[in-house]
Amino acid sequence: MVDFTFNDDFVYTHDNPYHEKLAEFSHFVLRDKEAEKFKGRWRQEVFANGRPIVAEIGSGHGDFMAAYCSDHKEINFLGMDFRFKRSFQIAKKLAQLSLSNFRYLRARGERLNYMFAESEIDSLFYFFPDPWPKRKQQKRRLFQEHFLETAYKVLRPGGEIFIKTDHDGYAEWMMEIIAKQQLFELTFFSNDLRGEFPEHFLSQYITKFEKIFIGQNMKIKAFVLKSKKG
Ligand SMILES: C[S@@+](CC[C@H](N)C(=O)[O-])C[C@H]1O[C@@H](n2cnc3c(N)ncnc32)[C@H](O)[C@@H]1O
Repeated sequence: MVDFTFNDDFVYTHDNPYHEKLAEFSHFVLRDKEAEKFKGRWRQEVFANGRPIVAEIGSGHGDFMAAYCSDHKEINFLGMDFRFKRSFQIAKKLAQLSLSNFRYLRARGERLNYMFAESEIDSLFYFFPDPWPKRKQQKRRLFQEHFLETAYKVLRPGGEIFIKTDHDGYAEWMMEIIAKQQLFELTFFSNDLRGEFPEHFLSQYITKFEKIFIGQNMKIKAFVLKSKKG
């Protein structure tokens, strides 16, 4: 099956009242393909600095984004999620921050290749992706071979992807793709991040979904992938 989200022909639909409502935050929110206009120009034209760029796919309720931006004023942060209402809620929250080191994209993670030029970003965060657990649904998972090729392209040499998931099946799925592709080195993995590595920086941040999963006594799986690009 061809997923057109990854292609030139892809058109965002925005027949949702929250699309218009998001315009209220146009000083830091970019909707649909607006972000794609800045491909290759984020540092110069958007942030007007030469600092590292980190991107997060599926920012959800923005807990990680808000905390990380505040802890790391030395970076430029691009959060993204495609859900409309959630994007509006996160924008309201971000608007309260007295920080200028971020932008929020109402956009899809499949579009990395259209949003970023070769090696433009330094790291990528991807926390608690939708697991699509049934076999028939798995093709909807964002983490596919093609996705990893795209991430490899837009990340700088040695750039990293940080992933957390509650879902054993998705963790195994990712592990298989990483091993098959050989584009990234798996530099860190834990089946029980908080039990085994409470001091790891990934244990220092807790997202909304992570709280729910921890409340259900689920172990958090974590990956750090480092690009092998020379
Ligand atoms: C399970 S929630 C996790 C949210 C947040 N990372 C957390 O840990 O609380 C998954 C989020 O990813 C978003 N998402 C799923 N697929 C996406 C995609 N292809 N591009 C952008 N966002 C996506 C969903 O809209 C949702 O907000």
